[in-house]
Amino acid sequence: MERLPGFRDFYPEPLPQPGLWSANARQYIFNTWRSLARRYGFHEYDGPPLEPLELFTTKSGEEIVGQLYHFTDKSERQVSLRPEMTPTLARMIAACERGYKKPFKWFALPQLFRYERQQKGRLREHFQFNADIVGEKDPAADAELIALLIDTLRSFGLTHEDFVIRLSSRNAWQVFFRHRHGAATQEYAFYQIIDKLEREAPEQSNEKLERLGFSLAEVSSFIAQGEPTAELTAILANLAARGLRDYVKVDYHVIRGLAYYTGVVFEAFDRKGEFRAIAGGGRYDNLVKLISQGRVDLPALGFGMGDVVLLELLRARALLPKFTAALDVFCLVEDENLRVEFLKVIHDLRAAGLAVDYSLTAAKPDRQFKRAQELNATYTLKLERDPAGMLLARIKNLEARQESVVLPAEVVTWLKGRQGQEGFRGDPAKA
Ligand code: HAM
Repeated sequence: MERLPGFRDFYPEPLPQPGLWSANARQYIFNTWRSLARRYGFHEYDGPPLEPLELFTTKSGEEIVGQLYHFTDKSERQVSLRPEMTPTLARMIAACERGYKKPFKWFALPQLFRYERQQKGRLREHFQFNADIVGEKDPAADAELIALLIDTLRSFGLTHEDFVIRLSSRNAWQVFFRHRHGAATQEYAFYQIIDKLEREAPEQSNEKLERLGFSLAEVSSFIAQGEPTAELTAILANLAARGLRDYVKVDYHVIRGLAYYTGVVFEAFDRKGEFRAIAGGGRYDNLVKLISQGRVDLPALGFGMGDVVLLELLRARALLPKFTAALDVFCLVEDENLRVEFLKVIHDLRAAGLAVDYSLTAAKPDRQFKRAQELNATYTLKLERDPAGMLLARIKNLEARQESVVLPAEVVTWLKGRQGQEGFRGDPAKA
């Protein structure tokens, strides 16, 4: 049985063949996302992967609606796997808004599903780091989010030479559109053309623009001028104060495909332009109101960063760490008569938080030792009896090749005492 196209299996390291997705790399990305969200004071939330279809059809816009994984369930409900997190967040906030202090600073790491054509950087499922601030109109919130986005990418080892945040504003485009008397009903259609400018042939874009009463020449000249609006100027100043100005440029090519964005929008790209967008987001000040049918009205903004492009980029720049097996102690059960005593020591070590493994069944000593090496254990531990019949534990540091002999009852204290000094590998957060 094959897995479905566009879906991934994640294997533990070391990977036995090229082209597989690494569960360790995924964990590393999740840990980094969580760690940065925490540093910026964001709180984790989650919602269901399956939602009423309607949540996405009315709010997200044509592009995503065309990619929905939707079906009718056994109770004749129209449902869809979530293609993005933002409508769920808006629904959750509208339902419990009174129970929290504002502004909300929330993040989530959902798995999302879009029936897209499989290509570089695009699959049919991906994980996304979503960070959103709800309940704050001031551009200080936009700057805070963009700073989080920049710092997240920096913490993976990427620098301003690797990526850039292209900052734009739908407000600027709205003024442009209305100033030239564009028909209000065509506004979103106009944004869609701008969104595709870089991906479509100029003649095709021009033709579409002319149908709405615009020309590619005037649109291009507006982009080239790139005059920042007041809100963008405030955001740039805020980021400059943090020393992050080099990471951002005003670029009106960016307008974002999703229908709900209302103001500042932005996307993160690799500088060389080899990859699809690493992340994208912006303001959506009307979505909570729309989803709560007018009951709750809160301004909001956020971004989503996918794991697929990020992994491609980190791999291309050789920035993924080498994932070593995370094992502190491998117990060598060389004398089967001592297995019961071994189980007690193993259990105590695990209860003390150490990562411990051993051979489940009787095996030759050299095979057991080879396994300890394969698993990259920091220590091996053997139990043995001295000539007087006293039970002793022989602990060996495989790297330093140093042996110590201690009483079994002292093994935990002895190893814990070394944990700080020698840097054990058992804690996946440190892997
Ligand atoms: P989005 O631009 O559709 O925004 O997706 C954000 C990021 O998710 C993209 O830049 C890309 O890295 C990744 N991504 C999207 N689709 C795929 C795919 N098929 N395969 C792999 N990666 C993908 C949103 O989803 C908004 N809801 C983000 C947001 C949060 N806006 C406000 N808050």
